[in-house]
Amino acid sequence: MGVVSNLNTMENTLPLDNPSLSRRQLLNFLTGAAVAATAGSALYPVSKYFIGPDESGEGGAILAKDILGNPIPASQILAEVPGSRALVAGLAGEPTYLTVLENSSLNPIGIVDNCTHLGCTFPWNPVDQEFQCPCHGSRYSADGSVLRGPAPLPLKLVHVAIKENRIWLSPWTELDPRTEAKPWWV
Ligand code: FES
Repeated sequence: MGVVSNLNTMENTLPLDNPSLSRRQLLNFLTGAAVAATAGSALYPVSKYFIGPDESGEGGAILAKDILGNPIPASQILAEVPGSRALVAGLAGEPTYLTVLENSSLNPIGIVDNCTHLGCTFPWNPVDQEFQCPCHGSRYSADGSVLRGPAPLPLKLVHVAIKENRIWLSPWTELDPRTEAKPWWV
């Protein structure tokens, strides 16, 4: 089974129509090879929850990992169809979305799965092409800009780079390309 699967075929995929998902379900979702999906949701903040073995690189970079702490091969994600979103354990254990681009490369910008309203995690809705927070209805565009509140701020970004088939995530500290201003998280 591929890393990213259709909603109806991936047994660990979190259904969009069931927002009442527990932390355990989210963990199951991320276990092993099941690091990704086109959608997933959970009601509660899970930041700091995915902390694995320490492997850090330059500029505070870390390897993208699954919930077991295993680095995820870039080839595993890039084998999926363009537009697929992979949810991985990122910086400080924050779940982070990676995106396969139309040219089958990996988007160098990752989006942290942590709603800027009250910190819920949220799914990507491939039909609406939005991130949709199940807690209070905030919606974000594909680049993490706010489409509808109550979320007050765009989603946090991270850098994504591939080296020797490993995916490195590093902090985004320069201007936010969406606002051309200093990021709110810096
Ligand atoms: S936590 Fe996402 S809308 Fe409230």
